[in-house]
Amino acid sequence: MSRRKVTVVGAGNVGATAAQRIVEKQLADVVLIDIVEGLPQGKALDMMQSAATEGFDTHIHGTNDYADTANSDVVVITAGIARKPGMSRDDLIATNAKIVGSVTEQIVKYSPNCVIVVVSNPLDAMTYLAWKTSGFDSNRVIGMAGVLDSSRYAMFIAEALKGSIKDVRAMVLGGHGDTMVPVPEYTTVNGIQIDQLLPVSKIEEINERTKHGGAEIVKHLKTGSAYYAPSASAVAMVEAILLDSKRILPSCCYLNGEYGIDGVYVGVPASLGANGVEAVHEIKLRENSSSDLKSSAEEVRKLCEQVGALV
Ligand code: LAC
Repeated sequence: MSRRKVTVVGAGNVGATAAQRIVEKQLADVVLIDIVEGLPQGKALDMMQSAATEGFDTHIHGTNDYADTANSDVVVITAGIARKPGMSRDDLIATNAKIVGSVTEQIVKYSPNCVIVVVSNPLDAMTYLAWKTSGFDSNRVIGMAGVLDSSRYAMFIAEALKGSIKDVRAMVLGGHGDTMVPVPEYTTVNGIQIDQLLPVSKIEEINERTKHGGAEIVKHLKTGSAYYAPSASAVAMVEAILLDSKRILPSCCYLNGEYGIDGVYVGVPASLGANGVEAVHEIKLRENSSSDLKSSAEEVRKLCEQVGALV
């Protein structure tokens, strides 16, 4: 069997780090593509020169030519601009919609059977746009956000408990923006519900910090946004798809009435495998989580309508 092939679009911090994680884990050969000449070539060659030391046999190729991406199994779209301090993810919509739209056309032309994982912001709207542009069934276009937001949530919980991150299973649903929905009722430490270990006031404080987890990093970095955790999260989804592992991960999926939400992409628990989203799980939520999820979806709908008008 030949090796699997993953294209990463965008050789910026998120894209390059995702590419690095994929080759180092030997999940697939990677094509790193960017419009900037020399950038993907330089980064790919640099990563190849780490192969002897890191000990990976997978290959990474940097290019500006979409023909090189042909027949990818999975394509990760990270292209677009990142926000600066004081900006919301939604402020990026006009610029990134143009970029994500044209990238998707190229991807679909050369890899008609791939699964697309969108990482560009504003995430839910960009995923919707990529889906509309691609003409793919919605199971083959997925957005990365819930894994990242849940990973941030888990980190803050482990820190508050002075415990091991390995025991924490955290869940964040909804849009990848200020309306995201941390779900404490499905957040556990080795099976123990979080409200048995932390006071409600602390959980609420952590929920708030989680919602602004990305902005906190933008504030530190000043000239860009997070990339270590975002790339790790995208790669977790790529791995589930390549290995057909059917992991249940919070993913930005197209909803057809689940949770009373219809016609938008928003974060929900989904089984990921070779066919992309293989099942959307409609789980029972507490009253407030359920209504927060619906309002988050309505916020996302406004952005989807904005980008929907472009295709
Ligand atoms: C973040 C950006 C990548 O949440 O959306 O850090």
